[in-house]
Amino acid sequence: MKVPFGTITITQRSKDLIGKALDSGRVSSGKYVREFEEKFAEHVNAKEAVAVSSGTDADVLALAVLYDFGAKRGDEVIIPALSFVATGNAVLHAGFKPVFVDIDKDTLNIDVNLIEKAVTKKTRAIMPAHLMGKPAKMDIIKRIAKKRNLYVIEDAAEAHGAVYKGKKVGEWGDMAAYSLYLAHIITTVEGGIVTTNKEKFADILRSLRCHGRACKCNICIVNTASDYCKKRFKYGKDIRFIFERVGYSSKMNELEAAVGLGSLEMYDKIIEKRRYNLLTMISRLKKFDKYLATIQEDKDEKVGPHAFPIIVKERAPFSRDRFVDYLDKNGIDTRDLFSSMPTQCPGFAYLGHKLGDFPNAEFIGNNGLHIGVHQDLGDEHIDYIMNMVEKFITATTK
Ligand SMILES: Cc1ncc(COP(=O)(O)O)c(C=O)c1O
Repeated sequence: MKVPFGTITITQRSKDLIGKALDSGRVSSGKYVREFEEKFAEHVNAKEAVAVSSGTDADVLALAVLYDFGAKRGDEVIIPALSFVATGNAVLHAGFKPVFVDIDKDTLNIDVNLIEKAVTKKTRAIMPAHLMGKPAKMDIIKRIAKKRNLYVIEDAAEAHGAVYKGKKVGEWGDMAAYSLYLAHIITTVEGGIVTTNKEKFADILRSLRCHGRACKCNICIVNTASDYCKKRFKYGKDIRFIFERVGYSSKMNELEAAVGLGSLEMYDKIIEKRRYNLLTMISRLKKFDKYLATIQEDKDEKVGPHAFPIIVKERAPFSRDRFVDYLDKNGIDTRDLFSSMPTQCPGFAYLGHKLGDFPNAEFIGNNGLHIGVHQDLGDEHIDYIMNMVEKFITATTK
């Protein structure tokens, strides 16, 4: 049997819209992107959503907004030491210094008890990631941010569908950045989106995604109907060629938005199936808890069913890599559970951190893996995974 890590569902509506966009000749950002932004914003209870070309860019652009609000290049942003490397890359690409904080091994998320110690005069923001859809402790993070006058940007790349203390993940921060890559729950194939309740932030995000130009309309009539733009010379100079800030080239196109609109229609069904798969796997792994750990869903939260994390415990007489190799040989696709960005990712070595600085993140980096929970997996796949885990454990522990 094969158990692939990811899947994609492309609906008939998406196919129809892709056809229409191709026939219209308008395939770069236009009305479908706007429609997708409006629907996504509604879906996560945000006033505004700005679509970009990746989840990484969603993080980068959200951070870059802060330059309009007093942040300086080289200022600091607090992030968890363990995340997909994009979280750290984004801080560096936005021109800030990442300040890494170790994680809590049980939740895989930033250890909120260590955040205040990491705040300095140069700190401008905290960017928690809700790893594997498990919500970070947003109430505590918000409290610290309020006290220390910091922005909060949620890296919600893996957190579609997650809820924390009665509010959706993404509703807590000043901005939230989602990935729409195809392994994620809502997808545009490649893509990302930033949500916010502050119109001013959304205006700046629209400028940033298009080279920093002065145009900030939420729908560009030039892009949708080749119409006459009354604003173009309103300020005496062509606003399309006034570049107000250091920008990026990060627009979503109509074909991606068409896939996204279909994906949103399927959302309820996809989330239901994925949550069933995740919660079933969590409960069935209990049998092996002498050697294997995973996350739990607490009473005041809903985990967004991104994937199923497994951590090989210290006492296990086998390594993560041996376990992964066994699963792989038996057709079960896995991914590592990321690594400690500052100490286990060679690209970050120049920042000067040393192995041992982030023990929990490093432990997960050495011992964690994750498996798909996507909508094309059924009970037969879960049975197969659990049977393989049992066989492996029986063979390696006897
Ligand atoms: C926590 C986290 N942040 C950011 C990203 C970046 O998203 P993308 O791959 O769409 O650039 C990912 C990707 O999966 C992620 O898991």
